[in-house]
Amino acid sequence: MNKYVLLSLLSSLLLCPLFGQNQLAIPDTAVGPVINLNLQTGSVNFYTAATQTMGANGDILGPTLILQKGDSVTINVTNNLPDTTTVHWHGLHVSPENDGGPHSIIPVGTTWTSRIEVMDHAATYWYHPHLHMHTNEHVTKGLAGFIYVRDSEEAALTLPRTYGVDDIPLVVQSRSFDSGSQFTHGNAYDTVILVNGTKDPFVDLPAQVVRLRLLNGSSERVYNFGFSDNRSFQMIASDGGLLNAPVSMTRLRLAPGERAEILVDLQGALGQTLYLMSYAATLASGIYGAAQPGMGPGQTIPGYTSNPLNGANFNLLQINVVAQSAGAVTTIPSTLVTNTPWSVASASTTRTLTFTPQTMGPTAIQGPFFINGTTFDMQVINYTIPLGSVEIWTLTNNSPIAHPFHIHDVQFYVLDRNGQTPAAHEQGRKDVILVESGGGTVRFITKFEDFASDTMPYMYHCHMLTHEDDGMMGQFLVVDTSTVTGLNVSSIKKPIAYQFFPNPMGEEGLLVFDNPENLEVNLAIYNVQGSIVRQAQYSGTNQIVLKRDGLQSGFYFFRLQRADGEVLTVKFMLE
Ligand code: C2O
Ligand code: CU
Ligand code: CU
Repeated sequence: MNKYVLLSLLSSLLLCPLFGQNQLAIPDTAVGPVINLNLQTGSVNFYTAATQTMGANGDILGPTLILQKGDSVTINVTNNLPDTTTVHWHGLHVSPENDGGPHSIIPVGTTWTSRIEVMDHAATYWYHPHLHMHTNEHVTKGLAGFIYVRDSEEAALTLPRTYGVDDIPLVVQSRSFDSGSQFTHGNAYDTVILVNGTKDPFVDLPAQVVRLRLLNGSSERVYNFGFSDNRSFQMIASDGGLLNAPVSMTRLRLAPGERAEILVDLQGALGQTLYLMSYAATLASGIYGAAQPGMGPGQTIPGYTSNPLNGANFNLLQINVVAQSAGAVTTIPSTLVTNTPWSVASASTTRTLTFTPQTMGPTAIQGPFFINGTTFDMQVINYTIPLGSVEIWTLTNNSPIAHPFHIHDVQFYVLDRNGQTPAAHEQGRKDVILVESGGGTVRFITKFEDFASDTMPYMYHCHMLTHEDDGMMGQFLVVDTSTVTGLNVSSIKKPIAYQFFPNPMGEEGLLVFDNPENLEVNLAIYNVQGSIVRQAQYSGTNQIVLKRDGLQSGFYFFRLQRADGEVLTVKFMLE
């Protein structure tokens, strides 16, 4: 044992005498063609007092959805939480109506149905709530889950893929607890690490090639993954697909929202114990998780400096190496797939997005942050993008803290980072990229294809959830015509035939809907935050006059539920 290993083992023992006492939870799996997700509250005993949680089909987190490219999958998301929410399929290429962004609210007690044709490359994706201003709260309370996409290219490779045996999902999340053992959010006291919702976890892994699917599901914290014995590992996939070839490394930085699949060869390590760690001591200043979250010593966040995880190397997961499993994979392929980025010459548009603090000066690091001088507005479309166009986006971070930028709908390829060709592990398909502080730049290229809507936007935002909730987000429409009339009518779910006019609505609107049996109907009007602003019950009618009745201008949804359970949800605008 060399001095380095001894030291790191020693320090991990000193830091966490009880580390590795709980068996790592492995989420259940769910497969199509129909998947039901029941969003519910629950509780978990991390400490003596129970912590109130949120989960899908369980107390915390949700099942891993296993999807096959080419399949059609219907996902019914039933909201049995006490709050309105949404569920977004992070990284999947789906239509904006099925994407689960902040416009696709799921009121309490209702079911949202998302229909997905799986078009994605084999990789690790995830799902999480996305209600504007409440994303951090709902994710912190426990709502998130993995999505595995499999395809024939991946299946043709000799890779570990026995779920929970040699193919292990690992979502790493830091949490802060209040004195009553309840999750708190939106502060820098995230001193506790959970992996798959397990505190101080251990896992038994077989002495063979094992695939770890790493997801940084934290609200703010960046991790610098590595193993306590400093062994190298091979990264095989980035956010949205396999890399061209495995990339050998000993450290891997992942920011919130980013995923990576790595292969670690545990042959010859039978009986050993090692740790998956975060080597945050070597994170550069200006990254949440480094000793200094800002560029200079004066720039900090309340609670940050006293948080023992910041700037430290710490354990994430204890690994006990046990006997090989049947059919063990013992070799690592030398090549994987062929990624073909779009050519720079094919790009028709370049867009420039600049991140700045809303307030300059020493507190600039605390946010809120602007993208191009503005914060998110549900009613403003920031970009309208023609369907089929290839675009280059240039991200420049003129703020003192690094921001992980995420875009819905597409995967992109990084053209350059701070003017340099990206490292090999950042040359694959991505949907989140960390843009370093103090003038850091990233240029990426992508194509907006397959899905268009004149009315339902996709999001782009910082994946630090506090920043996103504070408005570091924008939205874009992908349109298949050059003549867009604007965001006037949007229907997010309308199985009942209807007519509603005028839209935008003035003092009154008329809703005529299908009700052949003259069943009773319940009508509720929601604002874009998901709160009910009007509610009424009608019987024996197929027409309702909606009255403005003092409601402010803006977007609303009405949701009509017929007694037989059929639902009509329509977004409308009040002028
Ligand atoms: Cu992972 Cu818009 O989100
Ligand atoms: Cu997303
Ligand atoms: Cu940010």
